[in-house]
Amino acid sequence: MSEKTLRIAIVPGDGIGVETTREAVRVLEALVESGRLDASLTRLPWSAEHYLATGETVPAGAFERLGADFDAVLVGAFGDPRVKDNRHAREILLGMRFKLDLFVNFRPVKCLADRLSPLKDRGASDIDFVVFRENTEGSYVGLGGLFKRDTPDEIALEEDVTTRKGVERISREAFEFARTFEKPKRLSRPPRVLMADKHNVHRFGGDLWNRVFFEVAEGYPDCEASHMFVDALTMQIVRDPGSFDVIVTNNMFGDIVTDLGAALQGGLGMAASGNIHPGRISVFEPIHGSAPPLAGKGVANPFGSILTVQMMLAHLGEKETAAKIESAVSECVAAGLGTRDIGGTLSTREAADAVLKRL
Ligand code: IPM
Ligand code: MG
Repeated sequence: MSEKTLRIAIVPGDGIGVETTREAVRVLEALVESGRLDASLTRLPWSAEHYLATGETVPAGAFERLGADFDAVLVGAFGDPRVKDNRHAREILLGMRFKLDLFVNFRPVKCLADRLSPLKDRGASDIDFVVFRENTEGSYVGLGGLFKRDTPDEIALEEDVTTRKGVERISREAFEFARTFEKPKRLSRPPRVLMADKHNVHRFGGDLWNRVFFEVAEGYPDCEASHMFVDALTMQIVRDPGSFDVIVTNNMFGDIVTDLGAALQGGLGMAASGNIHPGRISVFEPIHGSAPPLAGKGVANPFGSILTVQMMLAHLGEKETAAKIESAVSECVAAGLGTRDIGGTLSTREAADAVLKRL
C-alpha cells in the first residue's frame, strides 16, 4: 500500500454513469474498509442535474483546484436529453481533458473471456492490445465556424490541429508502455507499436504524424514500429486482433477505433479508459456513455466502471490491489456472472456484489 492517502474525486455525472459509478465506489470503499487501500473519496456534483438546477457546468477555477486537491478523478458518463446542446458534457469531460492537458487517452482492448468475443475463432488470448489515443488535439479542439448560416450557401469549417509536440509526446508514451507490456514478453517477441493515420489524404497533419512517429521510433530500437492507414487498420483488427500490441493514433481515429475495440471486449459495458498526463492528476472513465433510456433500471453493466477503478489504482501505484480487481471481474465473467449485455442475468447491483464477493 502506498504511504500517503490517495485523494480521489468522484464525478458520477448522468444517466447510467450514476449507477455504474455507485458500484465502482462500493469496490473502492470495500478496499478502504478492509484496510487494503488508503484513500479518501470526495464526490463532486458536476452533471446535467447540477447544471439544470444551478446554471453552472464547472465552477470557476475548479479545474485548477482539482490538480492541487486530488491525485485522480473517477468519472461516470455525461449526456442528458434535457441538455440539448450537451454543453455540460463538453465543458466537464472535454474541459478536463484539455484544461488538465491529459494528452494520453489510454484504452486497453482486453477480452476477459472467450465467450465475450464476437469474432469467430478469436478469443481472450487473441484480443489483448492497447490504444494510445491523442487526447488534446485533432478535430476535438473546437476551432471552426459557420459561414452564411441557415442559407442555401451555408459553409461549415472544422479544423483539425496537429502539433509536433503533440505527436511526439503521445508516440513516446506508446513506446514506453510497449516496453513494459506483458503480452509481447509472454509471446517472446519484440513489442509492436503501430501508428495509424490517413496521410494518403491528410496531407499536412498526416504527414506530420508520419514523420514524427518514425523519428520517435528511432529511440526505441527494441520495439517494432509500423504504420497502417486507419481504414485498413479497422479491417485488420477484426481479422487478426492478436497481431497488435500498441496502437497510437489521433483523437478522432482513436475515438472510432476504440469503440470497435470495446465490441471485441464484450461491448461498451466492459471497457475502461484513462485520460492521463504522466506525473499529474489523471481522469479515469468507463468508455460507456450515459445511455438515458437505460438509466434507473438497474441493468447497466458495472464491470467497465470497476475495471476503470482497477486502471486508476494501477496508475496510482496500487498494482497488486488492481490485479485482484481484474481477477475478480474475470472470474465473474468466466462463471457467466454479469448483466444482460454480456449474457448474464444479474442487475447492476448484483453484478457488483459478485465482484465484491470474490475480492
Ligand atoms: C469517448 C466519447 C467522447 C469522445 C464523447 C462523449 C465526446 O465518445 O470518450 O470516446 O468523443 O471522446
Ligand atoms: Mg467514443
